[in-house]
Amino acid sequence: MGREVMTAERFTMERLSDPAGFKAQMTRDVRRGLTADKKSIPSIYFYDDHGSELFEEITLLPEYYLTRAETEILEAHANGIMSSVQPDELMEIGAGFARKTRLLLSAMHATGSGSRYVPIDVSDAALKHAGDALTTTYPWLTVDAYVGDFLLDLHRVPHQGRRVVAFLGSTIGNLPPDERGSFLKEVASSLNPGDVFLLGVDLVKDEQAMISAYSDAQGISAQFNKNVLTVINRTLDGDLPLDAFEHETRYNEACSCMEQSLRATRDISASLAAIDLHLEIANGESIHTEFSCKFTSDSISQELIDAGLSVSSVLTDRLDQFALVVAAR
Ligand code: AVJ
Repeated sequence: MGREVMTAERFTMERLSDPAGFKAQMTRDVRRGLTADKKSIPSIYFYDDHGSELFEEITLLPEYYLTRAETEILEAHANGIMSSVQPDELMEIGAGFARKTRLLLSAMHATGSGSRYVPIDVSDAALKHAGDALTTTYPWLTVDAYVGDFLLDLHRVPHQGRRVVAFLGSTIGNLPPDERGSFLKEVASSLNPGDVFLLGVDLVKDEQAMISAYSDAQGISAQFNKNVLTVINRTLDGDLPLDAFEHETRYNEACSCMEQSLRATRDISASLAAIDLHLEIANGESIHTEFSCKFTSDSISQELIDAGLSVSSVLTDRLDQFALVVAAR
């Protein structure tokens, strides 16, 4: 796949995994997930262009405290972090629309650090939007964006000097808990000595506050959850009926995770014609669609240490809702 030069000379975008590979992976995941005893769909498939927009709407909801809490931490600490690290580049995993990134980029510039931003995300529309907006706001900035799956493609993004790797928004919580350890080891091995890893995590708190964040009054979280069915129908020529599913969310104390699912409200017969898969889903049956795991300062520090990283600080907002962990090799 070639590198595409976007509107400004200072913005390039490259695909790490080609669209055919994406469809093949979805085929495997969906076939495995929907024919299993306990049905599931990986949450990575939420994020087509519409899904990325719905998530942006979620971040503005009164119930969804995560984004505001993390922004507060970045406002307080971005300058301090960047002036002590003095990175040449900021890499962001799962960048999306990259709004919080502005705080880190401004801090990089204000402290005389580098001027390269390297986002990686599954949504090319979100990256295009972010790259255009950021190169317009910051005339000194170069953006080299990568479209890909950060679980597979992380090591394929070349370094140009000392790097800060940011993985914000508690997106790490979306990994199935048993895949977190190997992902963190992958991140650790992608860091050079002197690089820094900035990890945003949501903290365990009052259960009702967590539940409300994933079941807002306006129903945007429900639309976001159901959008995964639209993505599957479109990609695999399916006829899963959206009106026959309801949004479900619960807190699973055993893994400290919020878990989202879609529950059938009647018996469903559907097909995914592109992969020749016929599905019978019983009234009341649930399809697991998302983990959103929560942490404590100690639990996430221990996981980073287990992955071979050293933790230099755990920064929190005033209400201790969210944490930004600063780690290095
Ligand atoms: C992508 C991790 C920021 O898990 O809180 C929001 C995704 N899912 N509402 C999260 C999400 C349902 C979100 N993050």
